[in-house]
Amino acid sequence: MADRPFDEARSEAFAGRMMDVLNGAGIALMTSIGHQVGLFDAMAGRPPATSHEIAAAAGLNERYVREWLGAMVTGRVVDHDPADGTYALPAEHAAWLTRAAGTNNLSLQAQYVPLLAQVEGPIVECFRNGGGVPYAAFPRFQRLMAEESGAVHDAALVDAILPLVPGLPERLATGIDVADVGCGSGHAINLMARAFPHSRFVGYDFSEEGVRAGREEATRWGLANARFEARDATDLGARERFDLVTAFDAIHDQIHPAHVLAGIAEALRPDGVFLMVDIGASSRVHENTEFPLAPFLYTISCMHCMTVSLALGGAGLGAMWGEQTARAMLADAGFDCVEVKRIEDDLVNTYYVATKG
Ligand SMILES: C[S@@+](CC[C@H](N)C(=O)[O-])C[C@H]1O[C@@H](n2cnc3c(N)ncnc32)[C@H](O)[C@@H]1O
Repeated sequence: MADRPFDEARSEAFAGRMMDVLNGAGIALMTSIGHQVGLFDAMAGRPPATSHEIAAAAGLNERYVREWLGAMVTGRVVDHDPADGTYALPAEHAAWLTRAAGTNNLSLQAQYVPLLAQVEGPIVECFRNGGGVPYAAFPRFQRLMAEESGAVHDAALVDAILPLVPGLPERLATGIDVADVGCGSGHAINLMARAFPHSRFVGYDFSEEGVRAGREEATRWGLANARFEARDATDLGARERFDLVTAFDAIHDQIHPAHVLAGIAEALRPDGVFLMVDIGASSRVHENTEFPLAPFLYTISCMHCMTVSLALGGAGLGAMWGEQTARAMLADAGFDCVEVKRIEDDLVNTYYVATKG
């Protein structure tokens, strides 16, 4: 390697790529803001408009909107006509940036960039000294997570995800006991409880904020069959109590994921099913170069999922633990039969249907 001559063309190309990275980072921050203040929604479907008209339509300060439009035009997100000073969001771009785009709304994901940037200082310290950054350092996390998973669950939980388990919708309709481990803000539990009034649902999470949000939504929806418990999932303390346990994106950031999986196996009745949803990457980094959003997901893992576990003295498995490790850990926990499935609305997650055999 040391003998290889310096490749000027490769170096030039890489400099260009790094400049794209910097521009992409700027666009990501502006995209996050555009989503939060409703600029993409305000521009979608509208004829070309001036910055004053766009600011008025969105109820925002024109000077800020004009600078934001500068980033969006040079970033090739928004079209600009210099002759009349107007801006337009093409329909093809709005399809990936607005709330109406549902699960395709990538502007929602852009919010992770500022969220992670808030903990850059403490993460730098962890690189030097080890340890982790606790959940308390991420005050926006529960809200963003709920927004992200809510879009997928609203679109697909009842109609596409639950039917991945053969016969499950029928069993839910008849009436079974269900637990969601690491339920976050509890929207999945409430959606299932509303769709299947004869079944009984409980959501577990150690986030008081998450559990409170779940309870409030259940009350708003008038659900008598959904409840929430603030508890550490490391010790579920249940034996053969559930017919279905779900974990949506919640195993890889556990303190002790192996204990949690073993606890879930113990909590299930003999014919019970564990539906585990997690990032569908490979456990081998060289197999992830083509995985959608891989660098972004490793970053979220390093600056959130892995570090929150390490902060509690945990395993620090990380979001990119991958299918091979997931299968091995499920087997160790006592799940003899594991089927791996995917759904159309979700590019990055794998759906594991695990039973005790
Ligand atoms: C990535 S979030 C997913 C939340 C939710 N399932 C969703 O899809 O929106 C992971 C959740 O696991 C919870 N969690 C992590 N470790 C936990 C533990 N040891 N006990 C209980 N909850 C835990 C976190 O508080 C967080 O709400």
